[in-house]
Amino acid sequence: MNQSFSNLLINWYNQHQRDLPWRDTSDPYRIWLSEIILQQTRVDQGLPYYNKFINQYPSVHELAKAPEDEVMRLWQGLGYYSRARNLHECAKSIVNQYDGEFPDTYEELLKLKGIGKYTAAAIASFAFDRAVPVVDGNVFRVLARYLDISDDISQPKTFKTFFNVAKQLIPENQAASFNQALMELGATICTPRKFKCENCPLSLDCQARIHHKQSELPVKKKK
Ligand code: ADE
Repeated sequence: MNQSFSNLLINWYNQHQRDLPWRDTSDPYRIWLSEIILQQTRVDQGLPYYNKFINQYPSVHELAKAPEDEVMRLWQGLGYYSRARNLHECAKSIVNQYDGEFPDTYEELLKLKGIGKYTAAAIASFAFDRAVPVVDGNVFRVLARYLDISDDISQPKTFKTFFNVAKQLIPENQAASFNQALMELGATICTPRKFKCENCPLSLDCQARIHHKQSELPVKKKK
């Protein structure tokens, strides 16, 4: 089952993925920047911000050297300004404490300012191809539906359940594609409403589709 899940998913992704600039790179700086921006906004709205930041600060060195008010100005419109301050802080510590190189493990990445479990997994897998699953809202939805998991995703302990499920499914040698693919499926096909099961590579074995429970999953009790 594991292999067919990941093979079907990755084959679908290779044919249908959106062309996004942070997918053409394994530069951890670009991946980190894109993920911090995308926590704040949707892809279409995040894109111009990503491009502005990359133009102004092509590497972590330029960002670390930038005046704080300039960074805040570029961030303007995204909201949640502590994220921008953390972004700048993190860039400075990469330069000062890590010699300008992002750490390449999940555990080390987690120590950095503003980098939580999701972002650490995204950088570890997309930049360094480490088999750490990303678990975001898209991943909760796809896995809850495919496997009919009705744990309440608003409970913090449920994260661990999904992390472990995804860890069983992620192929050691294609971690980056697997993670991107799972998120892409959730963002474009396995959507909260108007899910497009007829276009889904996993629909044959999807428990939610088989039992007509797509709208009930994932379970989220707390608003
Ligand atoms: N949303 C968050 N991270 C993303 C990524 N890497 N690609 C597309 N959408 C995303």
